[in-house]
Amino acid sequence: MTVRLGRRYGFPASHRLFNPALTDEENRDIFGKCANPFGHGHNYEVELTVRGRVDPVTGRAVDLAVLDAVVESNVLAPFRHRNLNEEVPCFARTVPTTENLAVEVHRRLAEAWPSMFGPETVLEKLRIWETERNICQLSATPL
Ligand code: NI
Repeated sequence: MTVRLGRRYGFPASHRLFNPALTDEENRDIFGKCANPFGHGHNYEVELTVRGRVDPVTGRAVDLAVLDAVVESNVLAPFRHRNLNEEVPCFARTVPTTENLAVEVHRRLAEAWPSMFGPETVLEKLRIWETERNICQLSATPL
């Protein structure tokens, strides 16, 4: 039996919507108050949907301890309490929107995934909440 299992994580981080390739005025025109030089914080939430087969012995589709460890070391620890623009190198030139954050979280998990899970355990979907009203979903291709 194949099931889809959801797991949620959270991390606080700050950011500023700002593209260093544009002028300050252009950034203000595009991003408004979100381009404020001193940034602002969010309590981000990440939800993963993992497709897997229920193991007849454990009754589980995915080892949550392994999943938690992968997410902690590749996503939560590098982002937690960080200023994304200033402290996370991939956002030095890439605007840390929810969209770009979802792409980066997926990239990191996709890189770590094959060494942690077999081919039947697939990261199918990823959603990130920046606020209650701002959610980005990425439907992952099979990893
Ligand atoms: Ni923001």
